[in-house]
Amino acid sequence: MAELSPDRRPDTSCRGEGATPADEGGHAAPGGGLDTRTVDPEYLTAFARPRGTLPPRAAPRSDAPMIDLSGTWRFRLSPTVAEAPEGFWATGFDDSHWDELPVPSSWPMHGHGSPAYTNIVYPFPVDPPYVPTDNPTGDHRLAFEVPADWSGANAVLRFEGVDSCGRVWLNGAELGVTQGSRLPAEFDVTAHLRPGERNVLAVRVHQWSAGSYLEDQDMWWLPGIFREVTLLARPEGGIDDVFVHAGYDSATGAGVLRVDAPDGTLLSLPELGVLDVPAGQELTIEGVRPWTAETPALYDATLSRGAETVSLPIGFRTIGIVDGVLTANGRPLRLRGVNRHEFHPDLGRVVPPDVVRAELELMKRHHVNAIRTSHYPPHPAMLDLCDELGFWVIDECDLETHGFEPLGWRGNPTDDARWAEAYLDRMRRMVERDKNHPSVIMWSLGNEAGVGANLGVMAGWARSRDPERPIHYEGDTECRHTDVYSRMYASPAEVESIGKGEDPDERRRGMPFILCEYAHAMGNGPGRLEEYERLFDTYPRCQGGFVWEWIDHGIRRRTAGGDEHFAYGGDFGEPVHDGNFVVDGLVFPDRAPSPAMAELATVFAPVRIEEGTPGTIRVTNRHTFRDLSHVRFTWRLAADGRPPAEGELEVGPLGPGAGAEVALPPLPAGPEAETWLTVTAVSTAGEVSPPEGTVLGLGQVRIRSAAPAARPAGAPARRSGSGRVTLGPAEFEPVRGTLVRLGGLELDGPRLDVWRAPIDNDRYGPDPIEARWRAVGLDRMTHRLVGLRIEGDELVVLTRVAPAAGDLALLATYRWSADERAACVRVSVRPQGSWTVPLPRLGLRLAVPDRLGAVRWFGGGPGEAYADSRRAARVDAFTATVEELQTPYVFPQENGSRTAVRWAELRGPDGSGLRIEGHPTVEFTARRWTSEDLDAARHTTDLAPRDRIFVNADLAQHGLGSAACGPGPLPVHVLHARPAEFTVSLRPL
Ligand code: GAL
Repeated sequence: MAELSPDRRPDTSCRGEGATPADEGGHAAPGGGLDTRTVDPEYLTAFARPRGTLPPRAAPRSDAPMIDLSGTWRFRLSPTVAEAPEGFWATGFDDSHWDELPVPSSWPMHGHGSPAYTNIVYPFPVDPPYVPTDNPTGDHRLAFEVPADWSGANAVLRFEGVDSCGRVWLNGAELGVTQGSRLPAEFDVTAHLRPGERNVLAVRVHQWSAGSYLEDQDMWWLPGIFREVTLLARPEGGIDDVFVHAGYDSATGAGVLRVDAPDGTLLSLPELGVLDVPAGQELTIEGVRPWTAETPALYDATLSRGAETVSLPIGFRTIGIVDGVLTANGRPLRLRGVNRHEFHPDLGRVVPPDVVRAELELMKRHHVNAIRTSHYPPHPAMLDLCDELGFWVIDECDLETHGFEPLGWRGNPTDDARWAEAYLDRMRRMVERDKNHPSVIMWSLGNEAGVGANLGVMAGWARSRDPERPIHYEGDTECRHTDVYSRMYASPAEVESIGKGEDPDERRRGMPFILCEYAHAMGNGPGRLEEYERLFDTYPRCQGGFVWEWIDHGIRRRTAGGDEHFAYGGDFGEPVHDGNFVVDGLVFPDRAPSPAMAELATVFAPVRIEEGTPGTIRVTNRHTFRDLSHVRFTWRLAADGRPPAEGELEVGPLGPGAGAEVALPPLPAGPEAETWLTVTAVSTAGEVSPPEGTVLGLGQVRIRSAAPAARPAGAPARRSGSGRVTLGPAEFEPVRGTLVRLGGLELDGPRLDVWRAPIDNDRYGPDPIEARWRAVGLDRMTHRLVGLRIEGDELVVLTRVAPAAGDLALLATYRWSADERAACVRVSVRPQGSWTVPLPRLGLRLAVPDRLGAVRWFGGGPGEAYADSRRAARVDAFTATVEELQTPYVFPQENGSRTAVRWAELRGPDGSGLRIEGHPTVEFTARRWTSEDLDAARHTTDLAPRDRIFVNADLAQHGLGSAACGPGPLPVHVLHARPAEFTVSLRPL
């Protein structure tokens, strides 16, 4: 596996501080005067204009016959266009020796060529509109039957997505060329189709085309026919297109409906008493249930004309901007969103429908209410699900030209009139396809495409075609073409100043503000979600945002030994790549939630439960549109080590936005142990999205504190003949001054530990802290014993912990005491020298026998938690195996720390083991490898269990932040090298 060398590290250029200067316009003279005519077919370089396609339309679900051409096709990959077989489109061409390939598919996922990943740069020379001669070209053929009764019918061949460009023939006749990978293309095949006979469809797909310059999204380059191909019978005088305008008047509760359809179309909405009303009329319908992401009410409509009936669900909702605030049905919108790419670890850009449904349900269960379809229109069925399950969607056009940014945007197609038609074509195809979805509330022109006149062309057309949806585009920071002010990775401080109206730009000050990307979820992180949420709660114009991003795009692979891991950029030998920057999601590539999902769900929770005035808890309904009649509240009282008591809690009806203090239930008397009351809000029976039983909020109140645990002391320290020191059950060796035995347990350590395997947020960003850590040598600290002496009943061990080649050090004094059962160490740390870097962690590491693999602890859990990502951790007693404590980040890094741990016990199968107690708490980690092993690993399969378990009992770690792309941790979570003291006791079990 290729390792990421420092000079190949991604330049992520996350633009938290504002956009790059405006495009200068113009383009480099191609070839510097040389003849640059290309031998490529002209359509490949024709500025991404499709050819021969029908006008875009919504293509509503119809009762007209349809044939899904998905299945096994014949396939042949050629390295260049010139080497692709002549005449393969002919009906009689012999393809029997070709490979088979499923369609839809991303062909590199099926052993043809390789995936390749770049974030910003193009993986080919920037020489628009030309593309490399080495242009993988996949020829696809399918023979299929069409029933004889299609005879005489008009027919349309529809492609939902071809990456990047496909030339199409039916029965030997050329139909045209598709461009715009993530958009549909239709061809009229009436003249060429042979009903009742064998038909042959041939599609030549090129990985690279001029369109590739417009499709430089941060993702794998994955060519192929990756969405369905269908053949549609089109009845004469049918309904090719419809445009539903379904508003909701929040003052009257009426729906206002007009459906634009061809003359003579009749509309029915039986549930609302609308039967065979001529389409085109404006209808006011009293008492409709409005559509919102919280209450996705849909009404089934049918439209009939001649021989065709189409059906579509209608959701009544009105999007507006009122006094600079984005509203839905008259109420300010709050977007708790994620950026969603279409990705599957085995299939590439093909995501099976059941997987899409499951992932959207997972989002709902974690209180995600909004999706930005980064950075292209999704599979059309995904938007059907958004209508059904309830999401606010920013539908983004298939446009990104980010690779021009490193060139100072020189030659950017966005400001080049030759590309204007392609820009407009893409916008039209998205808007026409998706215009009937109530979930779609904004059109986005694209992502990171600089600025230029072609954006104005897109926005102007969209406004005239669909004045009811605002326009979004982040790259236009002056908001020349947009209706909302959108930014990515702005720091909380900047968001706050925007919220306070301190933006010097008057136009922007009058607009809703959203973060189309924030909280970069790469690896362990993001930190600071809660801080952003507080700002969105505080400032009405700051209406939320979209976490970057939903899923890790790791590709599943196996080692020679059969172990599974996920690959990222560089693993396929790409000469130019951006490493694991493609792995920055809230869920792992297989859609297993990462710990960040628990944090997100807690921060986004629609019901907030907090400690109120004494004797109460405060409950706040954070829904915008619904009360809490669908919510049940339960309480649970848990004392350290005792079985819990449980009950139900009555919380009166609370309307959207309302809060109340609720008296605590009468609690049973408990022991003198630390005791917590947990109140949980769950959705009740009948709820579908999110389903019954979803935790909608959880809060805790500490009912009783425990008296501070006594520190073991009193056993005398004794030096043996060998120089070893014994103290209660503890035995120390004299050379390093470390504990080697505790009762029957062989131990190694504990010793001061400052290193963590850098997380992605340490490794990336403009000034990666990892580089500063390594420059100082924090990854290779050495321990010098300065002195070991017995002082009364205590053993005092003095060490100097320092890296080679430097003069910085931490002086660590360990003061050991013990009683008959346990030992206790008070560690004082004093930095020496002039420290300019924070510490990764500060704590103790010890090695324990590998049989102690079963862990129980009382403290924060159940998942990992760090200083700035610990909202999801609740205090309780938890159990897990050491294996279960690990978070398998695709790129191995620090993980698994449990926070505020009062005590943790590690036991072997016979029940014996070790108890670690914090005075009062520690941050606890246990793993079968060292931090250095984790640091050296590049894939999860590089990690092999050692014959010990390595345990950290830490005072603290440096915060997570989002520095891989965005701000680092809050100052209060920066772990400065300062004098510190902490105490831990160890007891054999
Ligand atoms: C943004 C970009 C995303 C992604 C992210 C970094 O600039 O819009 O597509 O690249 O940075 O992960």
